[in-house]
Amino acid sequence: MLKIQNLTAEVEGKPILKGLNLEVKAGETHAIMGPNGAGKSTLAKVLAGHPFYEITGGSITFHDKDLMELSAEERAHLGLFMSFQYPVEIPGVSNKQFLHIAYNAQRKARSEKELSMAEFEEILTKKMADLEIRSEFGQRNVNENFSGGEKKKNEILQMTILEPKLAILDETDSGLDIDAMKIVADGVNSLRSKDRSFLIITHYQRLLDYIKPDFVHILVDGKVAKTGCSELALELEKVGYEKIEASK
Ligand SMILES: Nc1ncnc2c1ncn2[C@@H]1O[C@H](COP(=O)(O)OP(=O)(O)OP(=O)(O)O)[C@@H](O)[C@H]1O
Ligand SMILES: [Mg+2]
Repeated sequence: MLKIQNLTAEVEGKPILKGLNLEVKAGETHAIMGPNGAGKSTLAKVLAGHPFYEITGGSITFHDKDLMELSAEERAHLGLFMSFQYPVEIPGVSNKQFLHIAYNAQRKARSEKELSMAEFEEILTKKMADLEIRSEFGQRNVNENFSGGEKKKNEILQMTILEPKLAILDETDSGLDIDAMKIVADGVNSLRSKDRSFLIITHYQRLLDYIKPDFVHILVDGKVAKTGCSELALELEKVGYEKIEASK
């Protein structure tokens, strides 16, 4: 599904990713943890095709295609979804309109029939109810004046509507209260399947109690310093990054 080999990337001339290797197969859930500034969000943005980040070496293949050759839009159409650490606000566009457009763009790319707003609303209403998002959030402008937790939940709503092949969630749990975190985890778990993969960036082992990853990677200074199973997150919680780095 996703294969990253010896990836190096920089932002404004500063090297951030320094030879990163990662392979995510279909159906797998990987967690990425690591200290502040290690390059986790940079990795997510490079994968999404953010224009600020320059790839200086290595390769990324997604569904056997060279990801770097594809525009951000083409990546999305291939089934790549990204939930950002700091979701953007889109004034003047209602959440419902935005989701409808995104949904139809995805269907068009898959050569499926586009849905009218009325048809789409049936799907949206159900998904919003599942995530316990009040219906007024359909009319409100995308993320505008949403609380931190509401923005994160809204990202999960986008994800469940778009049904991606690979979802990258960058600290989707930060700012969520415990109930919202469970709802978000349920949303992720309900989408888990043998041909869908997740890359979950988080600082907290707690999330991984609800979304059990197949692998945990620790990113330090732009590289994967250690990979393990979900127990690695528990160990990390106990001893912190310094010990983990020392024992690699
Ligand atoms: N646009 C940018 N301009 C300058 N420096 C940047 C930019 N984006 C990232 N960096 C730097 O790159 C490094 C890695 O940042 P990144 O956001 O990837 O870290 P992170 O692992 O996601 O950290 P956190 O856990 O705090 O979210 C940091 O030192 C950061 O200051
Ligand atoms: Mg980050």
